Amino acid sequence: MMPQHGLWTMAAAAFFLLSAFDAGSARADALSMNALREVLNVRPQGDAQVGAALFAATGCAGCHGEAGISANPEWPILAGQRSPYLYKMLLDYRAGRMQGQGAGMMAAVTANLNEQQISDLAEWLSRQTRPMLIRHTGREPAVLKGDRSRLIPPCEACHGANGQGWDLQPTLAGQHRAYLVSVLNRFKSGERNNDINAGMAQIARKLNEQEISALADYYGK
Ligand code: HEC
Ligand code: HEC
Repeated sequence: MMPQHGLWTMAAAAFFLLSAFDAGSARADALSMNALREVLNVRPQGDAQVGAALFAATGCAGCHGEAGISANPEWPILAGQRSPYLYKMLLDYRAGRMQGQGAGMMAAVTANLNEQQISDLAEWLSRQTRPMLIRHTGREPAVLKGDRSRLIPPCEACHGANGQGWDLQPTLAGQHRAYLVSVLNRFKSGERNNDINAGMAQIARKLNEQEISALADYYGK
């Protein structure tokens, strides 16, 4: 896995360089990447045991399931998700950097959590077992490997060869199909705009409806 990670990092860095040009100067904001690094640098060490208790006590389990596997297909599965990504998302909800109806619920439940508690929750969730489903049916969507003519990098450059993710690039494998469709459409419309340098939004904007559907079939369940 390690050598591949180096490759993904290079691919991701190259893409972000490209996207800076693509987006014009208004969005070329390396500082937000640095700000995120800073936030992660001072992240308190998460305690998974405390996180488990918090997950039950603060009502997360009511929506996301006892072990982070939500029954409602509109509510994301959290089990086995990358801990730095979970930490970032929870901070984004708390700070109002996520928009939309579901985000409002999440803003409310995170409002009174501190960094330590958020880190505890992220740590515990990342250690829960996730059914990592990718059905290699031989009908992988072509765009999975990227599309040079539209400057779309391969999904797996960042999300891993099996959709398992890495650090800040979320695990996609085994996520609810409906949630994947919803989130890709929201990146596309700009409703979701908490991603660094609008990296995901710029990709999603180039995907058509059929591609979004095929990608969700591939990664989702
Ligand atoms: C009332 C239902 C509800 C409760 C309670 C709730 N969530 Fe959520 N959660 C949601 C919904 C809906 C979304 C998707 C929001 C969106 O679309 O932006 C979400 C999204 C998330 C995400 C983002 C996942 C991703 O893949 O992007 C995380 C992390 C999360 N919730 C963690 C928690 C934690 C931790 C708690 C408890 C402190 C909690 N949630 C409580 C409904 C809930
Ligand atoms: C250059 C790296 C990169 C590439 C290439 C990339 N992504 Fe992403 N993706 C990210 C990052 C980083 C995030 C997290 C954004 C954030 O912080 O909100 C993300 C988030 C997502 C999410 C949201 C997951 C969730 O749980 O909320 C989905 C879905 C997604 N990507 C799908 C794809 C698909 C499908 C492709 C290929 C067409 C792709 N991505 C290509 C970096 C990438």
